[in-house]
Amino acid sequence: MPVRRRRRPIADRAAHLNPVESKLPVVDEVLQHRAIRSFVLREGRITPAQAQALDALWPRYGLGSGDSRPGNDALPAIDAALLFGRKAPLAIEIGFGSGDHLAECAAARPETDFIGIEVHRPGVGRLLQRAQQLGLNNLRVACADAVEVLRVALPAGGVDEAMIFFPDPWPKKRHHKRRLIQTDFARLLARVLRPGGRLRLATDWAEYAAHMREVLDPLAEFENLAGDSGYMTRPDDRPTTRFEARGLRLGHAVFDLEYRRR
Ligand SMILES: C[S@@+](CC[C@H](N)C(=O)[O-])C[C@H]1O[C@@H](n2cnc3c(N)ncnc32)[C@H](O)[C@@H]1O
Repeated sequence: MPVRRRRRPIADRAAHLNPVESKLPVVDEVLQHRAIRSFVLREGRITPAQAQALDALWPRYGLGSGDSRPGNDALPAIDAALLFGRKAPLAIEIGFGSGDHLAECAAARPETDFIGIEVHRPGVGRLLQRAQQLGLNNLRVACADAVEVLRVALPAGGVDEAMIFFPDPWPKKRHHKRRLIQTDFARLLARVLRPGGRLRLATDWAEYAAHMREVLDPLAEFENLAGDSGYMTRPDDRPTTRFEARGLRLGHAVFDLEYRRR
């Protein structure tokens, strides 16, 4: 069996390079690996209609640059009242995927304003198409890392409801650190949610559901509304998401959680 030599970590490798010799790609590589992220950016297949929607509809629905690559995704501070021209409850959906669920929510609840946050551009393009078809005025979209949106763009206590449905389960143990639901991320959610605001989550991955509870139940900022049982019965008003439908086809059970911001 050939002996595999252990590679030095990227930052370490870069530190050993003369800056002139290192050339930019290595520095870029270092920058791109500076944090553990909950996603891997793949442009994937973007349909001509999605690309066209991104071009034509970003000025109407988009927040910030629309470029989700790390370092390019900074957003200006979000002032929802200014953005929507009214004072209304604000809900956010993080990792909306194809956006069908979010479009359906925004259409069904015109009295609430919605901000969707997603890094995957084809999904963003698809949501913009749906938003236009449905004539939605109560929706804006950030194509950016939710960590940054929660950390710097959304005001403290400005959100009434945060939804995170079927986040990537990162099933391999060595990838668990990439899971979105972690204590630091929960603290960012607590920062933006107003007291009494709701955090709603769902997953079809039993072990991730348990992990969500391990992270959230002990935090003083949140109260698990299901009490000791931990999980809610599936809310009737939650439209089925694409990943949920896939999980159900595979015979997975779905776990719903709901927390109140104390
Ligand atoms: C498994 S998919 C679920 C999509 C959708 N919620 C559904 O149920 O069909 C998870 C989504 O979260 C997005 N995502 C992961 N980490 C993110 C982050 N830090 N910021 C924004 N979106 C993220 C991914 O791009 C992906 O589209």
